[in-house]
Amino acid sequence: MSGIRLPFVIAMLCAGTLAQSAAAEPPRSARDLVHLVRQDCGSCHGLTLQGGLGPALTPEALRERPREGLLATILGGRPGTPMPPFGSLLREEEAAWIVDQLLRGFPENGALPRTKSALP
Ligand code: HEC
Repeated sequence: MSGIRLPFVIAMLCAGTLAQSAAAEPPRSARDLVHLVRQDCGSCHGLTLQGGLGPALTPEALRERPREGLLATILGGRPGTPMPPFGSLLREEEAAWIVDQLLRGFPENGALPRTKSALP
């Protein structure tokens, strides 16, 4: 009996785990995204986002760039350059939020955006 049950239990546990990882995570809060950008993006684009290995991500530097292109760069990376794709880490709405905030002047770490944001 237990010879039948154990694999069944294991299968159910695995199915549960799979279902959980497939389920979408709740969107990150604005504060988390600010931290992520300052930390992860800042390692290449500079702590102040004024540029480093990667170019400056200031409103002045990005003004002429189409939003769609910026969004595609963040989600898909730039093949052939060190800019990695963040599509598996960020949801599209999170990346869009980051683009909006970069174009307005990115909030300091621990700070919330000056402007009303769609994220909590
Ligand atoms: C490993 C280093 C690295 C990391 C981490 C990184 N970038 Fe980049 N990024 C680059 C490089 C290098 C380029 C320039 C690519 C090129 O030459 O076209 C770039 C380009 C960009 C551009 C296009 C800028 C322009 O002028 O068109 C944007 C927007 C951007 N990154 C945003 C981000 C964001 C947001 C993050 C964090 C979620 C991030 N990057 C993390 C290295 C990095």
